[in-house]
Amino acid sequence: MAQSPQGQPAPPPPPLRGDPVPGGGKPGLPIPWEPVLTAAMGDPNSLRIQNYVQRGGYTALRRCIEQMTPQDVIKDVTDSKLVGRGGAGFPTGMKWGGTARNPAPRYLVVNADESEPGTFGNRYAIDGDPHSLIEGMIICAFAVGIQTSHIYIRGENRRGAEILQTCVDEAYREGILGPKVMGKDGFSLDMYITRGAGAYICGEETALMESLEGRRAQPRIRPPFPTEVGGGLFGRPTVVNNVESLMCIPHIINRGPGWFASIGNPACPGPKVYTISGDVNKPGVYELPMGVTLRDLVYKYAGGTTRNQRIKAVSPGALACQLLTDKHLDVTMDTATLTRPPFFNDFGPVGFGAGGIIVYGEDCEILDLLVNASGFFARESCGKCVPCREGTTWMHMMLRRMAAGAAAGKDLNTLLDVAKNISGRKTLCALGDFAVEAIGSAFREFRPDLDKAVADRAARHGNGHSLNASSEGAQHAGHAVTVAGTAN
Ligand SMILES: Cc1cc2nc3c(=O)[nH]c(=O)nc-3n(C[C@H](O)[C@H](O)[C@H](O)COP(=O)(O)O)c2cc1C
Ligand code: SF4
Repeated sequence: MAQSPQGQPAPPPPPLRGDPVPGGGKPGLPIPWEPVLTAAMGDPNSLRIQNYVQRGGYTALRRCIEQMTPQDVIKDVTDSKLVGRGGAGFPTGMKWGGTARNPAPRYLVVNADESEPGTFGNRYAIDGDPHSLIEGMIICAFAVGIQTSHIYIRGENRRGAEILQTCVDEAYREGILGPKVMGKDGFSLDMYITRGAGAYICGEETALMESLEGRRAQPRIRPPFPTEVGGGLFGRPTVVNNVESLMCIPHIINRGPGWFASIGNPACPGPKVYTISGDVNKPGVYELPMGVTLRDLVYKYAGGTTRNQRIKAVSPGALACQLLTDKHLDVTMDTATLTRPPFFNDFGPVGFGAGGIIVYGEDCEILDLLVNASGFFARESCGKCVPCREGTTWMHMMLRRMAAGAAAGKDLNTLLDVAKNISGRKTLCALGDFAVEAIGSAFREFRPDLDKAVADRAARHGNGHSLNASSEGAQHAGHAVTVAGTAN
């Protein structure tokens, strides 16, 4: 396995389908794995279209337009077994095929919101190789029969939006966007960039479309689904894909679906841009086969833990996932493994999200971790449904009281009860479930730590409140924060 940290020079253009296999292999056999999505990162010229073309860019699009039908392209994407990299892990070929079967006009929306703490792979990808996203989008539009596309980028990522706008303008100038894409009769495509509205919920695909349509970003009731009439952008069938999902597409077309499907875990194969942060020596972006072990990620690539400390906990997919511990170091980090038994329990799947791994060392206090995580979800709840709006606020207030030494140990049971009442798809979107993942798993893995932390803090602050007193306090505090949260 190789890694491609920033600063590495861009490799030569990739071998294409049917080329001899590097290292003396035979044509037709899978090409050995190497980083492709991050290969251009660190090259200061990688943003310009001429550089991209020199590296073999837009050859996949030309191949689609000149040698393939839209159905052939969808078949390649389906055969590659690409699953979406945005978190839900939905098969991309199935999404494209379903949308194409519904009547035009259809839209493509790229989800570049990426607002969860611990996730930054899309930002690096856009900064490093924006034309490969644009090429993936144009191929999607060709396959699904789309004439208008949108990139919805996190509002704070102004630099990314500017980079993309420059590249989109270049593509129009070169005849790669606009009427007659690459001279192809009957295939035109426009591309627009919109900066997001500054909230995590804007990344949920239906809230994102509400925001694009000019309304407050709140998730829609499904069905109808985005791919269907009535469910997508402006009520039209719409493909919503993550940045990384679309950046895989040119490589699938160039190298063949068999190459892609041969990389990593066969249930969710391909290259994956992992981001790793927290108590590791070399936090950053690592492109590796989907399914690398947690142990390799931390110790082989991220340089081990800071001060060589023991790992206490790991968030495998940023804040929205359950916590793993050092007994899980040999688990493979991929969508399929972390969403199926044995990584599926009372609180649902452990989850892999977009692959934003956060490592917490032995000094990390789990109670404080939960205070931070719950604060994020309480702030970011859009307020549309009651269990999430009220529950996230309640959980955060209870945890804050525990951290402040103003709670009793039995309050932990009340917290667990509230968490269970939010969990299990009782909310309109997945944010409600996300909000309880870390808490639920902390009860499973770290209950003694939590009991001790609550008792120690209460002793340190000279408190020792009864359950009634602390619950009453939480009620007042919770009410105050609920008002602020709904005004989000
Ligand atoms: C609260 C919330 C936030 C989300 N944020 C993102 C995001 O920032 N980027 C993203 O691609 N998907 C995000 N998703 C998942 C999207 O709803 C959707 O599944 C994804 O964009 C589909 O693209 P894919 O099939 O290529 O993964 C989020 C989901 C939820 C519930
Ligand atoms: S689960 Fe939370 S974020 Fe999602 S719709 Fe309900 S209130 Fe809004």
